[in-house]
Amino acid sequence: MNDQLRAALQQMPKAELHIHIEGSLEPELIFALAERNGVALNYASVEELRAAYAFTDLQSFLDIYYAGASVLLREQDFYDMTAAYLARAEADNVRHAEIFFDPQTHTARGVPMRTVIDGIHRACQDSPVSATLILSFLRHLSEEDAFATLEAALPLRDKYIGIGLDSSEVGNPPEKFARVFARCKELGFHLVAHAGEEGPPAYIGTALDLLKVERIDHGVRCLEDAALTARLAREQIALTVCPLSNVKLRVFDKMEQHNLLALLDAGLAVTVNSDDPAYFGGYMNDNFIATFEALPLGLSHAQRLARNGFAAAFLPAAQKQKYLDEVDAFFAAL
Ligand code: HPA
Ligand code: ZN
Repeated sequence: MNDQLRAALQQMPKAELHIHIEGSLEPELIFALAERNGVALNYASVEELRAAYAFTDLQSFLDIYYAGASVLLREQDFYDMTAAYLARAEADNVRHAEIFFDPQTHTARGVPMRTVIDGIHRACQDSPVSATLILSFLRHLSEEDAFATLEAALPLRDKYIGIGLDSSEVGNPPEKFARVFARCKELGFHLVAHAGEEGPPAYIGTALDLLKVERIDHGVRCLEDAALTARLAREQIALTVCPLSNVKLRVFDKMEQHNLLALLDAGLAVTVNSDDPAYFGGYMNDNFIATFEALPLGLSHAQRLARNGFAAAFLPAAQKQKYLDEVDAFFAAL
């Protein structure tokens, strides 16, 4: 890749729309928090933990990801994790981030809901990066558990703007959560769901039709269904694609095989995101650089991807336009 393209990828203003805050916990911080809180880990050292990050599929990752999150107990822990992510995002010229958090991972261990939300939210308030929160239900748990989680989080509803759906996809289809998503829609939240990462393209259609989501997280398997692809293009449904994640979790064996360019060529509203940057080998700029190194992508693709991120953000129209103008000004000045 030439120097101009690399510099543009690094310096262009970005929005990140698919980041699990628990997936930003670096091994060093996991060990520091384990020590601070007296939590025992199954790994003797940072190196040993990092060496365990050799995933074969989504579930093999999720098992380690939930174990890593077990060190989070106090509000300050959630604050420190989020502040560390936002500092990395700022360094990558991320202007706006919409951050997933998984409350059930913590409330199931006895951590109060307000400890989770207050800690993450306070770090967002203190950052120069614009940051909002999306509460995600774990789809391997029941819809009843999701309802109870919503109930517990509603007193803090001013601190998050949307609802998402993550964890083990195959066998946990969108329809399992149709009632709780209907309730969240009534309450006025933005709605998103992971679909078509490991699960079949049909889950993308049911996430749209039954859950009424506004964006699809991942969605890369849509290309297996021509009618679905045409619909996503026609309706300009944003896909929050995570290239390094897809290679680490073996959705694609190598970055050269990633379908990001094919998705763009199909006219889809593709965005680039980091998913779980501490586990998958990098933050936003690492994702852009790895993708552009492996695929025949150039400056016009970079501009389109940067624009798509802001266009798909849950932001007021004027704010969105300001960011889009900033992207266009950046590329016009190259
Ligand atoms: N997929 C599903 N659930 C997740 C992911 C993911 O990529 N990251 C964190 N939870
Ligand atoms: Zn994800």
